[in-house]
Amino acid sequence: MKKFSITVAGGGSTFTPGIILMLVENLDRFPIKEIKLYDNDKGRQSTIAGACEILLKEKAPDIKFIQTVDPEEAFSNIDFVMAHIRAGKYAMREQDEKIPLKHGVVGQETCGPGGISYGMRSIGPVLELIDYMEKYSPDAWFLNYSNPAAIVAEATRRLRPNSNILNICDMPIGIEELMASSIGLTSRKEMEVKYYGLNHFGWWFDIRDKQGNDLLPQIREHVSKYGYVTADESKQHSDASWNSTFAKAKDVQALDPDTLPNTYLKYYFYPDYEVGHSNPEHTRTNEVMEGREKFIFTECQKIIDNQTSEGTELTIDEHASYIVDLARAIAFNTKERMLLIVENNGAVSNFEPTAMVEVPCLVGSQGPEPLVMGEIPRFQKGLMEQQVAVEKLVVDAWYEKSYQKLWQALTLSKIVPSAQVAKDILDDLYEANKDYWPELS
Ligand code: NAD
Ligand code: G6P
Ligand code: MN
Repeated sequence: MKKFSITVAGGGSTFTPGIILMLVENLDRFPIKEIKLYDNDKGRQSTIAGACEILLKEKAPDIKFIQTVDPEEAFSNIDFVMAHIRAGKYAMREQDEKIPLKHGVVGQETCGPGGISYGMRSIGPVLELIDYMEKYSPDAWFLNYSNPAAIVAEATRRLRPNSNILNICDMPIGIEELMASSIGLTSRKEMEVKYYGLNHFGWWFDIRDKQGNDLLPQIREHVSKYGYVTADESKQHSDASWNSTFAKAKDVQALDPDTLPNTYLKYYFYPDYEVGHSNPEHTRTNEVMEGREKFIFTECQKIIDNQTSEGTELTIDEHASYIVDLARAIAFNTKERMLLIVENNGAVSNFEPTAMVEVPCLVGSQGPEPLVMGEIPRFQKGLMEQQVAVEKLVVDAWYEKSYQKLWQALTLSKIVPSAQVAKDILDDLYEANKDYWPELS
């Protein structure tokens, strides 16, 4: 079997060690020749990379490993880029959450004003990574899960239409694991689903076992009582705040008896509740910095100090094996069925053809083939029309450097109560982001 070379862009990410361990665990399905970590923050990456180098030496010594901040070294002679960068890092995520909250509006990484702000920071750096890949390894594929994936996907559709890019999100995967456990299945892979929406903005409307039996009513019964909380805890999303997000799905599902919702819809349906339950001084970013980031960097430093991973508490991010499924689908033409963020083109037949929608696709060596989900109901269509317009306006605003378009995007966001509040938030975000956003006029 061919062995593949991979660049992890955003090598200093908190998710990198779990993904490296996952790749090592899956070498029989996806053989690897070389792993390169690339980041533009040498110091941050060196702790993660130092530990990954030792892990690899111990678990898979045949894999060549390098860490670099040099694009040419990082992107030459590779087959895949796995991209999870965070433009502006946690310091700017914190601003995205706290600035809207100061104005009484939901502050969230990817939804509403916070997501718009993050989108304005992410587009440029993600396009830069794609350009490096195309310059140094033109046949490689770019697997993107850098957020906000909806806005990044729209930007790549419009600005790099011919590039080999796949945009994917792990939230549906995480939720499907919880759905499976809620009805006593051992894996989401026992289910086949139909789903439509935008990223962090979608619905399941058909869930079956491999024999074709309808599982949705049984899952709905669980969700109407407990949301997505099950006895089997989600490993990646295990903090208390994630648990309340999963519980809140009970109220989100109540809006529509025929579907099951993505957890992120809570920000759009219950913004007042979310603001009421937020602490403007201590948001999700603070939790992540005190929790995941501290844990990962402490464990990596221990590995470096001890020069061995013996006794480490770092664990495989098993749920991230969808990344291997995706890479395998391209490499071996497996035609795996996966939810991806792709140009609609009729997959949702009564919805804008150029929208980037999240739908099941068959993935093979030519890329994704979206499956037709048909017509969607008025409720979801109305919501999606509004949200897709927000996402497209953000890309317009970034490309045209237009303050006006960005103000329109914020005003159109369902979470924002008025044009005045939109403007007040925008002005504060613009000030905070002057090192990251294009200069607007
Ligand atoms: P993190 O801050 O720990 O890691 C991000 C890394 O990206 C940092 O080391 C940073 O230095 C680096 N970086 C920033 N800009 C860069 C650039 N221009 N070039 C190269 N490197 C750059 O963040 P995290 O919490 O580990 O998350 C990483 C990313 O993955 C975020 O965008 C997050 O939203 C995303 N994510 C997406 C999904 C999904 O469902 N799509 C799931 C989990 C995480
Ligand atoms: C889910 C989403 C990601 C998002 C992450 C945030 O996995 O699909 O898009 O980045 O949650 O998690 P965090 O723990 O950083 O708040
Ligand atoms: Mn996501």
